Amino acid sequence: MDYKIAVLSGDGIGPEIVEQAIKVLNAIGKKFNHNFRYTEAPVGATAIDQVGDPFPEETFQLCMDSDAVLFGAIGDPKYDNDPKAKVRPEQGLLSMRKKLGLYANIRPVTTFPSLIHKSPLRKDLVEGADFVVIRELTGGIYFGDKGRSEDLTKAFDTCTYTKHEVERIVKLGMEYAAKRKGKLTVVDKANVLATSRLWRETVQEMEPSYPDIEVDYMFVDNAAMQIIQWPKKFDVMVTENMFGDILSDEASVITGSLGLLPSASVGIHTSVFEPIHGSYPQATGKDIANPIATVLSAAMLLELALNLTDEAQDIRDAVDKSMVEGVVTEDISEGKAYKTSEVGDWLAGHI
Ligand code: IPM
Ligand code: MN
Repeated sequence: MDYKIAVLSGDGIGPEIVEQAIKVLNAIGKKFNHNFRYTEAPVGATAIDQVGDPFPEETFQLCMDSDAVLFGAIGDPKYDNDPKAKVRPEQGLLSMRKKLGLYANIRPVTTFPSLIHKSPLRKDLVEGADFVVIRELTGGIYFGDKGRSEDLTKAFDTCTYTKHEVERIVKLGMEYAAKRKGKLTVVDKANVLATSRLWRETVQEMEPSYPDIEVDYMFVDNAAMQIIQWPKKFDVMVTENMFGDILSDEASVITGSLGLLPSASVGIHTSVFEPIHGSYPQATGKDIANPIATVLSAAMLLELALNLTDEAQDIRDAVDKSMVEGVVTEDISEGKAYKTSEVGDWLAGHI
């Protein structure tokens, strides 16, 4: 089969890690007889430098015309300490999410046995933890009305949700739970926020349609604590945009492997697959960044966007093997550290 993949490498280490994922995809293509056609387009700070827009119209069109988007990272330190910058790389990400209708961000949290000792938590707490955080991605405070008073001494951001927005993401959460252990945890702040009460009310109305799913509700502060205290109790967690932003970062580090976790953003148009770590500017161009999160994002791309389940599993098997054999970058190596490009070559060679 022929597949069209939009490649948005972005900033910092983005291009180096995406290059490794493409090597692995090419090996898959060869083995399973698929033809992946890649087209590059600028996004983030790179796109601002080139055309003054962090998500240019041509990049959007390319995404719309593709079967899937492979995304690297965005962000550049020159914008981080300049709150007055008129255009920022992050706006590119938000506008991509909005324009492609990517209302769900899916972050699987899994442990790698050979890395458990790197977790900040006790081994017995994290060993075997396996859950998915589903974050609403195109609503809430990120996209509500915001502004500043004329005298600049007051600012506001509003959090808005519609019933429809809640229903579509919770439906996805229910479907994920049905394929897993059948447990859905809805995280909100219904004791304080009106939007959270709408979430809770909507999910309660949906519950009878999913009799096999065990639904529980948890306030976000409590959830932040329980992720640390008892990560193994979770199966699928669904929550609004900003709670999900915070909790998914928290969840990702408990396994000791931030550099290894992939994500998928899905919704109305083409889905986007990206590592959850950022652009790691300090490592740019040094061939030291860990490419595994991006390689595993390519596996999610095969599975979720192209329905190529065996192919995705092949990638995961190769990644597991590389970790067992210690063919890994310096962030997780115990002995010899391999370069980004060497890990990519090894993985491609073991497909
Ligand atoms: C993420 C990031 C983004 C977010 C930033 C870069 C705008 O933290 O994808 O989680 O807050 O959504
Ligand atoms: Mn985040």
